[in-house]
Parts: sequence; C-alpha cells; structure tokens
Amino acid sequence: MYRTHTCGELRLADQGKTVTLAGWVQKSRKLGGMTFIDLRDRYGLTQLVVEADAAPELVETAASLGREFVIQATGEVIERQSKNPKMPTGEIEIRLSAIRILNKSVTPPFTIEENSDGGEDLRAKYRYLDLRRPPLQRALALRHRLAQEIRTYLDAQGFMEIETPYLIKSTPEGARDFVVPSRMNPGTFYALPQSPQTFKQLLMVAGYDRYFQIVRCFRDEDLRADRQPEFTQIDCEMSFVEQEDVLNTFEGMMRQMFRNALGVEIPDPLPRMSWYDAMDSYGSDKPDIRFGMKIHEVSDLVKGCGFSVFDGAEYIGGIAVSGCAEYTRKQLDELTEWVKRPQVGAKGLVYIKCNPDGTVKSSIDKFYTPEQLQKVAGACGALAGDLVLILCGPRRKTQTQLGVLRIEMGNRLGLRDPKVFAPLWIVDFPLLEWSEEDQRFYAMHHPFTAPKPEHEQWFYSDRKEDLERVCANAYDFVLNGTELGGGSIRIHEAAMQERMFEVLGISKEDAEYKFGFIINAFKFGAPPHGGLAFGFDRVCALFGGQETIRDYIAFPKNNQGRDVMIDSPSRIDDAQMEELFLSSTYVAPQP
Ligand code: AMO
Repeated sequence: MYRTHTCGELRLADQGKTVTLAGWVQKSRKLGGMTFIDLRDRYGLTQLVVEADAAPELVETAASLGREFVIQATGEVIERQSKNPKMPTGEIEIRLSAIRILNKSVTPPFTIEENSDGGEDLRAKYRYLDLRRPPLQRALALRHRLAQEIRTYLDAQGFMEIETPYLIKSTPEGARDFVVPSRMNPGTFYALPQSPQTFKQLLMVAGYDRYFQIVRCFRDEDLRADRQPEFTQIDCEMSFVEQEDVLNTFEGMMRQMFRNALGVEIPDPLPRMSWYDAMDSYGSDKPDIRFGMKIHEVSDLVKGCGFSVFDGAEYIGGIAVSGCAEYTRKQLDELTEWVKRPQVGAKGLVYIKCNPDGTVKSSIDKFYTPEQLQKVAGACGALAGDLVLILCGPRRKTQTQLGVLRIEMGNRLGLRDPKVFAPLWIVDFPLLEWSEEDQRFYAMHHPFTAPKPEHEQWFYSDRKEDLERVCANAYDFVLNGTELGGGSIRIHEAAMQERMFEVLGISKEDAEYKFGFIINAFKFGAPPHGGLAFGFDRVCALFGGQETIRDYIAFPKNNQGRDVMIDSPSRIDDAQMEELFLSSTYVAPQP
C-alpha cells in the first residue's frame, strides 16, 4: 500500500497515529535544523517535518528533495506549533520517520500552487503541470460532479444514453466542418459532427423516445472565451412532446444541478421572455437580467425637432446608467470613442446628465428644451443622478449596440457578480433570418426547426414579409448573459422538411444529396419530437463563476485552435498524404 491517507485528510483528531502519505513536493524549506515539506495530492496539502535530531539519512534525503519530486513519507501525526487556519490540515503536521523518493523531477517551469507565476502559453505547453494546481483540480471536479448530476437526473426521467458516430456527413449548424479524408474511399471525406442533430432525430424515428448523450461536437469557427473547436454538449431529444414538456424537463435538470452542485435555488418556474422582448429591452437574445438598465425606445419623443441625426434615424433608444451623472467630459469622450470601435459600431453617442439638483445637461442642448430632455430621460427610467446614453440607427442594429453598451456599463458598475445566478428561457424565436448580404434566408436555429403551427400559412407563402413573421417553438436557456443551451420542436414530416430547404434556397438535388436520409426517414412514421442541447463546458464555467471555458476542459486548444502541448495540428508526412490521396503544393510558413 503506497499510502494510508491522502494529503487532505488528516486532522487534530488523528494525533498520535502513524501514517504514510504519497504525493508531490510543493515546497521544502529549512528552518533552524528542521526541514518543512509541503506535500500535495489532489485532495490537499499536508505539512511534513523532519526534525534536526532525526536519523542522518533522513535529514539528508529531506535536504535533497526538489519541487515536484514524488515521495512516500511515513511518520506520526502531531499538533502544530504555529497553526494555519487557512488550511484544512493546518492544525497538524507529520513528524517523519522515513522518506522514499518514488521519482525525481526536473525543476518545473512555473510554480504549481493556487496562483502560478507562469504565463498562459507556458502553462498550456505544460498542461499536465498546470492541471496539478488546485484551481484546475476544482474546475475538473465540478465538471465531474455536474456530469454525474446530469446522468442521475436524466436516467431517473427515463432517458437512454446512446452514442452516435463521429465520422459522419456535414451537419448544418452554421459553422465550418472539420473533415477527415477516407483512405478506403479515395477522394471522399467524412465530416466531424457539429452536433448529433440528425442522428438524435433518427433515434426518435427509431422509437427511442428519450435520448441523451454527453457528447463531443466539432466546429471550425473563430474562437472566443466561450468557444472551443471541440466542445461538449448535453444533447437531448424527446418524442411526443410539446415545447412545455421540454422546458419543464430541462428546467428540472438545471434546478437539480444548481441545488446539488452549488446549493443554489433558482426561481420556480424560471422567467421566460420572448425573443422580441429580449431584443427590444436588452438588445440581445441572451440578456443578462442580473441588473436592470433596460433599453427604451425614444424615437417618438425626439424626432421632428430639427436634430437631423435623429430625424433621419429609423430608431432612437437609450439606457439610464445609475449614478453616473457626474461623468466628466473626458469620461464621456472616452465612452464615445468606445461605442465607435468596430466591435460596437455606433456612429456616435448622445448623453443626458440628470443632475442631482433636478437640472439636465446634454450633448444635444441646442436642439431640445430642458423639458423635452427631462421627458426623454424619464422615458429611459432615469432618476436624479443618472446618466442617459442614447444611440440611433436601424432598429435591430442599434438595439444590439445599446445591448453591448449596457453590458459594458454593467461591468464598469460592478453589476455582474459571478456568484449571482439569473437564468431564464428565451422563447418565440423567429424561424428565419434574412441576410442582406447573401439575399437569402438562413434558419435562425437550424433547418430542422418547425414553424409554430399557427404560423404555417406564412411559412408556405412566397412573400418575404410573411416568411419574416414566422415564429418557431425554439428556445434558449440563458444564464448571466451567456447562451447555455438551445433547442426546438422539430419538423417531422417529409413535405414540410422539403419546404424548409426550399425556403432556405437549397435546391432539391442539393437537399437530396445532403439530407435525403432524413427526409426519407420522415416517410416511415416519424413521431412529433423536439429537444435541446446545452453547452456543457459553458455550464461548468458559469457554475464555477468564470466566463472562459478553457479551465473546465482538461486539454483545451488555444485561441489559434492549437494544442501547444502536443503541437497540433501538424503536418503529416508525404507517405501518409499519398495514402489518403491528398496532394499539397501549399507550404505553410514556418513559425
Ligand atoms: P447550438 O448550436 O445552439 O444547438 O448549440 C448548443 C449549445 O452548445 C454550446 N456551444 C458551444 N460551446 C463551446 N464552444 C463552441 N464552439 C460552441 N458552440 C455551441 C452553446 C450552445 O447553446 N443541435 C442543436 C441543439 C438542438 O436543437 O437540440 C445545437 O447544436 O452553449
């Protein structure tokens, strides 16, 4: 037996016991004649002590220990002279009688402690060392706990966990596919699934009416803090259900996860907001409702007063920022530059300061009377001491910009506490989204989402205005400004699926080539069905109070989609290229 206890286990009640621990040397220091060693494993840290009068070999071995040596140490649990209340094992130490070095270590490139001195790149290269650090161990432990909660809950609800293939054909989730060449079928490629969407629907056709899978998905898209090229979904599908059944089932799952993993009770039932209200009031389809600062349209109050910028705008809207009336000229200039950045894209920023004495001061004083400005501020919900920020332009675009500004002001005012959880459902999404650039419709969720039955007449119309009005029983689970999951009630009839592809401008031949299998399957008695998928990495990160998902994935990719530890992606040799019938004249520049 290598150890009798872990490094996080021993307490004052164990005093007098002879124990053996095994782990990594985090630190070793000499004090007087004594050597103190911090021994770490994934359960915690225990202080070991070799006393000055210990056997000479023991003192010598203790002196030879370097950081990250793996040792086995035996000794007696004793009460510490100077206790450390911050450590669970801080009341005791182990007076050693033996040390065995199990393996040496070269000096690690950064400190492996709660906070490391290593930069991000260095830690990524030595990910296995970074993973020894407590914050990462806590992150992965949380991920494990949540996965267990999910399985327990869904099993109790009658869901079956069924695996689906990774080597498939392109799925239309809106990103680029990662592809894999087929040696046995020269010149052809598999695509890695962006999600198991079509397979889970086929499982419904096959009669497995409650399916789930905690499954890897692959999307070749630009990376952000909450996006990885390979990520994990909690993917689910149910037959003979309506939207209400799906929402209730997964609200229950989330409630159990919050309760059992965090001890947090979320509202019952969860709030719901239509997509239209979310856009109008928060300028986002993933509103952060931890704070107010809602967007208000003021077009009617400001148009036709001779201020040409507003007179010519489709939409004018504002937000009231609490207690910021004392913003200086410099701060307002900085904010104006901030909204003009390409990431926000506004043309300019209008402000109204609602001074504590009841007067107003604005960048558009010349065009409006104080009374008019008071009215505008009032319409935005401003109180004395608030700063009203106004943008104008095309309706949705301006609302989105106001939404970005709202989040920024929320951050600046410290209104986005990661320990506060405000989940909600966004419902009633439009089915389709018109692209001015491509002059065609795209599916807002994906092409398998059904129109609301009461909107079907518009779905079969050829008028753009009619198609734009069609809503879907599609829904997103949103937490603190992040989309954690989404799904919909699906199309289950071949004719309607064919119509959907037609609306999306996909030719009959193309639809047949890409999705013939699912249209065909729908001809064999497909049940009504619907489902959703949560982004598991995002769930873990937000539960852990973080916005970046990287720490919740054992071996993530960096922002360039690279794994710098294993140095991937990398070139393959000519023989392998040939075997796969690939040829390349492209020579990548050497870094
Ligand atoms: P969707 O595309 O909305 O739906 O994806 C579901 C959830 O997956 C997460 N997610 C990601 N997480 C990390 N990195 C990424 N690159 C990434 N992309 C998506 C998000 C998102 O809410 N098949 C449908 C679901 C359905 O209709 O049942 C789908 O994949 O949290």
